[in-house]
Amino acid sequence: MSNRWYSEHRSDPWRRKARQEGYRARSAFKLKEIQEKFAPIRDGDAVLDVGCAPGGWSQVACELVGRDGIVVGVDLQTTSPIEGAHFIVGDIQDSLIQDSTRAAFQERVINTVISDISPEISGRYDIDQAISIDLVTMVCDFSLPLLNPGGAFITKVFQGPGLDALVKALKRRFSKVHRFSPISSRNASSEIYLVCKNLKPHHGGLVQTVGDEIIDALARDGIVDHSDDDDDIVVKTGFSVHRRD
Ligand SMILES: C[S@@+](CC[C@H](N)C(=O)[O-])C[C@H]1O[C@@H](n2cnc3c(N)ncnc32)[C@H](O)[C@@H]1O
Repeated sequence: MSNRWYSEHRSDPWRRKARQEGYRARSAFKLKEIQEKFAPIRDGDAVLDVGCAPGGWSQVACELVGRDGIVVGVDLQTTSPIEGAHFIVGDIQDSLIQDSTRAAFQERVINTVISDISPEISGRYDIDQAISIDLVTMVCDFSLPLLNPGGAFITKVFQGPGLDALVKALKRRFSKVHRFSPISSRNASSEIYLVCKNLKPHHGGLVQTVGDEIIDALARDGIVDHSDDDDDIVVKTGFSVHRRD
């Protein structure tokens, strides 16, 4: 680790505050700020937490939903137990993990999806940003069909190509979509949170997936090449779209 990283890390007041208040991660305060401003999580809610490790957001969500609520978290990493939460270890893109996630709610409809999902940082911002958009898009297409009409969706995303198209796609599905930068985000951070409230019935009657809408928008902007003939997507810049067979 660099000296700069070490001194920033050590002097980080949010990290200190998290330790003092018993939260596992400084990110807990970002969700607290979101809750204070937009109140997306209510007592008794069923909450899906995507990219939940080490568990800071799940701790906050469990406090908010209370005894009648349920929090299901999914992450590639193991999350130590929290009372009131159920954790699944695996890739949210994997269909078996998606099945386990649905099953963990035991027929309850989800009221709120919270996603702090983040790629492993490579240091190449264009690549990390493209993967962030890709992950969030996938989280939308998996979780929004499970969300109760009227429900809320919160996600972190890195700013850059595809963000405006993502916001547009979400505005078609939710009555309100806010871009929010918590003060507890690091000053230099390029992350932003999208806070979407009140999922429209039947998702506004849309048939296209969020992923397809974003690919179309990126193709219109010349960022990806979308060939209609064989349904292949060819990446022209840093956007890491999966090639379709
Ligand atoms: C910033 S951390 C989340 C911190 C968490 N909100 C908290 O408060 O403790 C982002 C997480 O996303 C997870 N992640 C990234 N890609 C994932 C994937 N495909 N499936 C599940 N989790 C993923 C990472 O393992 C990482 O733990």
